[in-house]
Amino acid sequence: MLPEVERAAAVLGAAGVASPRHDAEELAAYVLGLSRSRLVLLDRLPAGAADRYRELVEQRAARVPLQHLTGAAGFRRLDLAVGPGVFVPRPETEVLVDWALARLRPGDLVVDLCAGSGAIALAIADEAPGVTVHAVELEQDALAWAARNVEKTGLPVTLHLGDVADPVVLADLDGTVDLVTANPPYVPVGGQVEREVAEHDPPAALWGGEDGLVTVRAVERAAVRLLRPGGLVAVEHADLQGESVPAVFRHWAEVEDHPDLTGRPRFTTARRPG
Ligand SMILES: C[S@@+](CC[C@H](N)C(=O)[O-])C[C@H]1O[C@@H](n2cnc3c(N)ncnc32)[C@H](O)[C@@H]1O
Repeated sequence: MLPEVERAAAVLGAAGVASPRHDAEELAAYVLGLSRSRLVLLDRLPAGAADRYRELVEQRAARVPLQHLTGAAGFRRLDLAVGPGVFVPRPETEVLVDWALARLRPGDLVVDLCAGSGAIALAIADEAPGVTVHAVELEQDALAWAARNVEKTGLPVTLHLGDVADPVVLADLDGTVDLVTANPPYVPVGGQVEREVAEHDPPAALWGGEDGLVTVRAVERAAVRLLRPGGLVAVEHADLQGESVPAVFRHWAEVEDHPDLTGRPRFTTARRPG
């Protein structure tokens, strides 16, 4: 491996970055405009790239998220634009999309609540052709990133600025939606999060009130209204909420909780009674 990357991995490890070698390699690949796998072909960083690389490694050591430095986050088949003002999509959310895709049919109508960068909505539009997708987001800054991603991917997602708790948001779709998805803010007030998250993900994307469930409850109320009888909902939650989030849906049918790829409780699904 490049000596500069070896040194950077040591610096990032000492700074408490969770995956120092991976991030050191990603930043080198980004600076050079290469894929990570091609780094092995180099002996040294080209002179012109070394300063820029050092600068980025310093920022990463100060716990700026890797995705803010590269301006991109991979989510399923998509390369999404991200940066200050929007939640960086996480790999654990991809499992919820798998569940949704297995149930969608061409012609279905989907609403993604708490859309952020548009990750869930865009992945569904990408992988479930013939499905109509709307996405709702509270924050203007986050919605601007979602708009950038709609443009970047060319995928047909209709964006709406709105509050999930507003009883008339998307009211024209009431009773017609086949699937509601949501990755709402769910960290309880006072919950511990990594430095990257606390300092760089927007507060509105994280904090879910005293018990973490304030927006989950608003999602449940919106889903009751939006879904057709027999329609489905899927809501992501924290790994400690594998019982409390299903309890929010206790009056629904087929309430189930699902693990992510690491086996931790990650999302709840339910069917609106007919
Ligand atoms: C955890 S992030 C998820 C973003 C994206 N769905 C994802 O999975 O990467 C939650 C998002 O919900 C938005 N949000 C928070 N409260 C909301 C509300 N009441 N109505 C609509 N969106 C809300 C936040 O601004 C943030 O973009």
